[in-house]
Amino acid sequence: MSFGLIERYRDRLPFAPEDPVVSLGEGSTPLVHAPALSERVEADVWLKYEGLNPTGSFKDRGMTCAVSAAVREGAEAVICASTGNTSASAAAYAARAGLRCAVLVPEGKIATGKLAQALMHGARVIVIRGNFDQALTLVRELVERHPIALVNSVNRFRLEGQKTAAFEIVEELDELDALCIPVGNAGNITAYWKGFNEVGRRPRMFGFQAAGAAPLVAGAPVQHPETVASAIRIGNPARWEEAMDAMTSSHGAVRAVSDAQILDAYRFLAAREGIFCEPASAASVAGLLAHGAGGAQRIVCVLTGHGLKDPGTALDQVAAVVPCEPELAAVERAVLA
Ligand code: F0G
Repeated sequence: MSFGLIERYRDRLPFAPEDPVVSLGEGSTPLVHAPALSERVEADVWLKYEGLNPTGSFKDRGMTCAVSAAVREGAEAVICASTGNTSASAAAYAARAGLRCAVLVPEGKIATGKLAQALMHGARVIVIRGNFDQALTLVRELVERHPIALVNSVNRFRLEGQKTAAFEIVEELDELDALCIPVGNAGNITAYWKGFNEVGRRPRMFGFQAAGAAPLVAGAPVQHPETVASAIRIGNPARWEEAMDAMTSSHGAVRAVSDAQILDAYRFLAAREGIFCEPASAASVAGLLAHGAGGAQRIVCVLTGHGLKDPGTALDQVAAVVPCEPELAAVERAVLA
C-alpha cells in the first residue's frame, strides 16, 4: 500500500485528518545519482525524477492538494490553462474525484502524450488559437463568473503540494548547495523555495528558461514565446515576483538556455544516464552544463516530466530504426554492423 503525499506530510499541509483526500499515490519519487553528469560538471549531481509521478509529471504533487481542497469546498468542476502536463494531471485527479474537468491548451503546441492523457481521463479539451498566457488570462476571468475551481499554480494548494519535493530531497541529502530547475509559469521554483525554507534549508536556486521564452531573464514579458520545450513555452509567468525572490534571496540566478542546449542535455540524459525526461525538464541540466551552479558541489537537478510525454520530439532527435528481413544472416549483419 503506497501513501500519497497528503498522508505522508499531513502535519505540514493544510489538511485535517477528516478532510477528503484525492490521491493517486503521488510523490516519493527517486533521487538518482548521475555519475556521467557529475563527471562533466566536476560536482556531485542528483536527478529528482519527477516523471515517475502517477501522470508522469511533478504536477501531481500540486494536484492532489488542489483537487482535494476543491472537493472539500464542494466544487463540482475544475479548470486550468496548460501547456500539457497540468491538463493531464487535472484530468486524472478530477476523474478520480468524480469532478468535471475542462482544460484550455494552446493549439498545436501540446505534446501528444499529454493530449492523450487529458482526453482519456475525460476532460473537455479546449484548444485555444493562442498561447498559454492568453489561455491563463481567459480561465482566470472565467472562474470569476462561474463556480469552477481553478487548479493552475495560482491556486495556493498547488504550491503546498509541490513544496513536498523539497522535503523529500532534504530527507535524502544531508547537504545540498544548489537546486537547478526549469521555469515556466514559475510555480514550481516558488514551491521548492517554500519547502526548503520550511525545513530551514537554503540551497542556491538556479532557474532556467528556454531562450525563446525567457521573460524572467529579459525582465519583461515575451509576447510570442517559442521553444521546442513546449511545456515551458510561457511569456508572462504568474509567479514572477516569488520566483525572482527565491533566486535572489538564495544567491542563485535565472538564466536562459537555447533549444540546442536543451536538446543536447535531453539526449545526454537518455543516452548516458538512462533517464528519459521531456525536453522542458532537460532545461535544468542544460542550464547546469551551460552556466554552472555558482561553484556548488552538491547539486540536484529537477527532471519535471517523463520523456514518454513527448514521443514526437524524441523521434525527431534520434537515429532511424534498422529495417531487416526475418533471416538469421540479415539479422546478424544488422546487429553487428
Ligand atoms: N517542466 C515541465 C515538464 C512542465 O510541464 C512545466 C510547466 C515546467 C517544467 C515549469 O514549471 O510552470 O511551475 O515553472 N507546465 C505547466 C503546464 C505550465 O501547464 O503543464 P512552472
